[in-house]
Amino acid sequence: MGFKIALGGDHGGYKAKTFVIEMLTKQDHILHDFGTNNEESVDYPDFVHPLATAVENEEFDFGILFCGSANGVCMSANKHQKIRAAIAWTAEIAALAKQHNNANVLCIPGRFLNESELEEIINSYINATFEGGRHQRRVDKIPC
Ligand code: RB5
Repeated sequence: MGFKIALGGDHGGYKAKTFVIEMLTKQDHILHDFGTNNEESVDYPDFVHPLATAVENEEFDFGILFCGSANGVCMSANKHQKIRAAIAWTAEIAALAKQHNNANVLCIPGRFLNESELEEIINSYINATFEGGRHQRRVDKIPC
């Protein structure tokens, strides 16, 4: 079964986002791109907050954000109380973000990953399942 996936990011993540959209289009998902739509310099919070609000409102199953380092988009997304945004730079970390932290936004450092790494990381996150149990107890303590 496919997912409803929100994607977004700044100019530093644009190329990676474009690749991931092409990749996910070949799978059975519904995608919505919150922008940006080219490599002109922009401010990442302008794209993160609308996406994060939509994920909080359960309009999407999860989001994937992209910037150069992943830090800016992750910091911005995590200001939203119901968002658990995690930076992933390996497939194992991406899987753990879902399995242990029930991350609902994955943050990708677009300037530091090649296409095969991107494919592995995204598929690893999508195919992972939250393990619940003691992890649910910890996740419940995150909001402040
Ligand atoms: C843009 O140059 C870069 O600062 C941005 O993409 C991101 O890495 C910020 O955290």
